[in-house]
Amino acid sequence: LSKTERKIIEDSIREIKDFPKPGIVFKDITTLLSDKYAFGVLMNHLYQRYKEYNLDFIVGIDARGFIFASALAQMLGIGFVPIRKHGKLPYTTIGEKYSLEYGVDEVEIHIDAFRGQKDARVLLLDDLIATGGTANAAATLIKQAGAECVEACFVVTLTFLDGYKEVEKKTPVYSIIEVK
Ligand code: PRP
Ligand code: ADE
Repeated sequence: LSKTERKIIEDSIREIKDFPKPGIVFKDITTLLSDKYAFGVLMNHLYQRYKEYNLDFIVGIDARGFIFASALAQMLGIGFVPIRKHGKLPYTTIGEKYSLEYGVDEVEIHIDAFRGQKDARVLLLDDLIATGGTANAAATLIKQAGAECVEACFVVTLTFLDGYKEVEKKTPVYSIIEVK
């Protein structure tokens, strides 16, 4: 990814101060998605990187992660698998709880998400990593569902939080934009 390309992606992400609560600078990716040029630069870069990985599935996390993960899966000609918030998936699930700033949440995957394929090679793709709770739980679920998480990729990594370091213990992490 060239410096110019990275800047195009970075500049297309809008910052909303104090959303959803005071002190949070929210990274709004809707302005990236509606910018056909920036969205194209991002998706083309992801395609060029991951076409060499011999992947079987892309896993996206509810809800913003779905957008990037399903688009990339189609570009690569492979399947897309959703990890959803608790109670949303209709078939038998495996769940993993994780801590939020206040309390706990849970994400789930379908038990047969990888269609019985042994050691399927999977990329985990999400829009952003902050505390890492969500991505960590997702990486655990991928393993429990019988697949190998080859890499975890985030459009935005908040490096002033240490979340990505925990994920790095499980799987390589690739970030497009790092926010210090
Ligand atoms: C956001 C983001 C990541 C997660 C990162 O999703 O899309 O999935 O938070 O936070 P963490 O690293 O601290 O776990 P959110 O739960 O806000 O859901 P949304 O995509 O439905 O907006
Ligand atoms: N999820 C967790 N922290 C976030 C942030 N600062 N911006 C957007 N999504 C987030």
